[in-house]
Amino acid sequence: MKKKINLLIVKASPNSDGCGNKIMLELERFVKKELNCKVSIFDQQKESLRRNEKYQMICDGKKMESKFEKKLMACDGIILLSPVYLKQAPGEFKITLDQFAYRMNEFPLIGKKMVSFVYCDTNGAKELNQYYKNIFSSAGVEFVGTCDYYRAFQSLDENMSIFKEDIQTMYRYIRNDVFHISDGQERLFQIYKEVIQKEQEKGIEVHRHKRWNLLNQYDSLYDYVKSTM
Ligand SMILES: Cc1cc2nc3c(=O)[nH]c(=O)nc-3n(C[C@H](O)[C@H](O)[C@H](O)COP(=O)(O)O)c2cc1C
Repeated sequence: MKKKINLLIVKASPNSDGCGNKIMLELERFVKKELNCKVSIFDQQKESLRRNEKYQMICDGKKMESKFEKKLMACDGIILLSPVYLKQAPGEFKITLDQFAYRMNEFPLIGKKMVSFVYCDTNGAKELNQYYKNIFSSAGVEFVGTCDYYRAFQSLDENMSIFKEDIQTMYRYIRNDVFHISDGQERLFQIYKEVIQKEQEKGIEVHRHKRWNLLNQYDSLYDYVKSTM
C-alpha cells in the first residue's frame, strides 16, 4: 500500500489573524478531509527571527537545517500562501527563504510539486507569484498551478475553488508519479554541472559537491528523477 501523501502548507504572512490565516485553516481542512493527506504546516507567524545567528552558520559552511528546510524536504507537495507586502514577499518570510538559499544550486526540491496562492489588496500578486515560481523552480520544484488574488476586485470563494482544483491536480500527479521537467530546469542543470566540474578541477571544495557527486552521474534531470521512482 502506498504511504499517505504529505502536503506542506506554508503561510508566509507574519500576521496571526489575517487573510492568510483564514485561507490556511480552510485549506488544512480541505486537504485532510477531501484528499485524505497528511498535512504539515509552516506558519511564519510562529517563527522567531534571529537572522544574524543563522547567517553566521551558513557563512561558516556548516550543515544548517532550519525548520522550514526540514519541512520542505519531508513533504511531497507544497502549498504556498503569501500576501504581498510593498510589492514583495513579507520581510520575515524572505529571511526564511534566505536561510534555504545555500542549497539553491543542488536541486534540493526535485521531484516535489507546488502550488501558490498570492494575495494582495490591489497590486503585486502576479509579480510576486512569478518571483516564487522562479526561485522554487530553480530549486527543482514542478509548479502545478498559481493563483493571483486581488482582494479589492475579486471574490475569495471563486479564487479558492480554482486553487483547490490546482491542489487536486497536484495530489493526482503525486499519487500517480507523474512528473515534468521544464526546459529551463534542464538548462540550469547543465550550467550547474559545468560550474561544479570546473570547481572540482580547481580543487575548490564546497558542501554542494556532496550532492553533485550523485547528480553528476546523470545526463539530465529527467534521468535523475526517473531513477528515483
Ligand atoms: C506591510 C504591508 C504592505 C502591503 N503592501 C501591499 C502592496 O504592495 N500591494 C497590495 O495590493 N497590498 C498590500 N498590502 C495589503 C496586503 O497584501 C493584504 O492586506 C493582505 O490580505 C494581508 O494578508 P495577511 O493578513 O495574511 O498578512 C500590504 C499590507 C501590509 C501589512
